[in-house]
Amino acid sequence: MPLNPRAAAGARDRSHRDESLKELQDTKFALDRSAIVATTDVEGKITYVNEKFCQISGYAEADLLGQDHRIINSDYHSKEFFRQLWITIARGEVWNGEVRNRAKNGKIYWVDTTIVPFLDDHGKPYQYMAIRFEITERKRAEARLREQETLARLGEMAAVVAHEVKNPLAGIRGALQVIGGRMEAGAQERAVIDDIQTRIDALNEMVQDLLVFARPTPPKMAPSAVTTLLAGTVALLRRDPAWADVEVVVSDEGPTLRMDAAQIQVALFNLLLNAAQAVNGKGRVDVTVETTDAWCEIAVRDTGPGFDDGVSDKLFEPFFTTKHRGSGLGLATAKRVVEMHHGTLTAESGGGSGAVMLIRLPRS
Ligand SMILES: Nc1ncnc2c1ncn2[C@@H]1O[C@H](COP(=O)(O)OP(=O)(O)OP(=O)(O)O)[C@@H](O)[C@H]1O
Ligand SMILES: [Mg+2]
Repeated sequence: MPLNPRAAAGARDRSHRDESLKELQDTKFALDRSAIVATTDVEGKITYVNEKFCQISGYAEADLLGQDHRIINSDYHSKEFFRQLWITIARGEVWNGEVRNRAKNGKIYWVDTTIVPFLDDHGKPYQYMAIRFEITERKRAEARLREQETLARLGEMAAVVAHEVKNPLAGIRGALQVIGGRMEAGAQERAVIDDIQTRIDALNEMVQDLLVFARPTPPKMAPSAVTTLLAGTVALLRRDPAWADVEVVVSDEGPTLRMDAAQIQVALFNLLLNAAQAVNGKGRVDVTVETTDAWCEIAVRDTGPGFDDGVSDKLFEPFFTTKHRGSGLGLATAKRVVEMHHGTLTAESGGGSGAVMLIRLPRS
């Protein structure tokens, strides 16, 4: 039966529309499968999120719809960074960049982000679509690489410092000792000489810290008991009267591990010292040990102020310090030592209820 030409055209239209719709659905399906997708209105209010968005951010769809992206902001980028983003997309241009976000559980993740403005007939955006891919691992690898480069440069610098500073310092110290020795026991100038010597010793120690950090010696592994090591490290802290009012409680026994006990002691001592400083010389520091088949975890917990989330990445960077007289090498050195033992050193802040430093050492 011949078809009425109008009906035939209508059917063609419909099949064309069905095809386009199917194509659109397929494209959306493919996009949702591969990327983290969200759309917002022109004000930035979230109007759509796909499953991947919910997965990575840890929020349910209902938590996100109607909110803006500040809900996953990690306080890492500057105001200017987001201002530029908004200027670009409001102009109708595509923005691309790498953004550090925070999931509901506090975990940080990085996403390579492309934001595409959808434009109306007047060329004005009426909605934005953000397409993101997770790049957290790559960011970590880049940070590690940067860290290694810094360390290599620092190593070269340390060699120069050792030669140009340490040796003359030793010479000056020796000369002072000779002069001091020639003075009478009660001479007023003796106090001055003593003071200079103390300062030289402090300087020397700082240079020594730098050297230890920059030119680490490979660990000399030997079986050593964690319990003994902890007791020894606490005793070391006890030797300084400044920490007389700090109560250090070691509550568990530890296993015997293959490690360079002297090096691990340096790392532990740095953690204890930081904890004692965090409680301002008055308070409690808890050391706990947890042992599994694979790991031995030593946690140092203090009751100090903890630290801001924003600096948690920076703590382990060499020379990062918030202290008046800190060199900022304590945690960097500790981390390095622990990593040379194929372990990890991480920091957590309980948000006003102190800091927890966690050393994890492999058992084999
Ligand atoms: N237990 C802690 N509680 C709060 N903040 C801490 C704690 N431990 C370290 N920090 C922070 O990390 C920073 C870096 O610590 P790190 O031990 O590397 O250097 P430092 O203690 O400042 O100087 P030093 O070289 O003398 O150790 C500190 O300045 C402090 O801001
Ligand atoms: Mg320190």
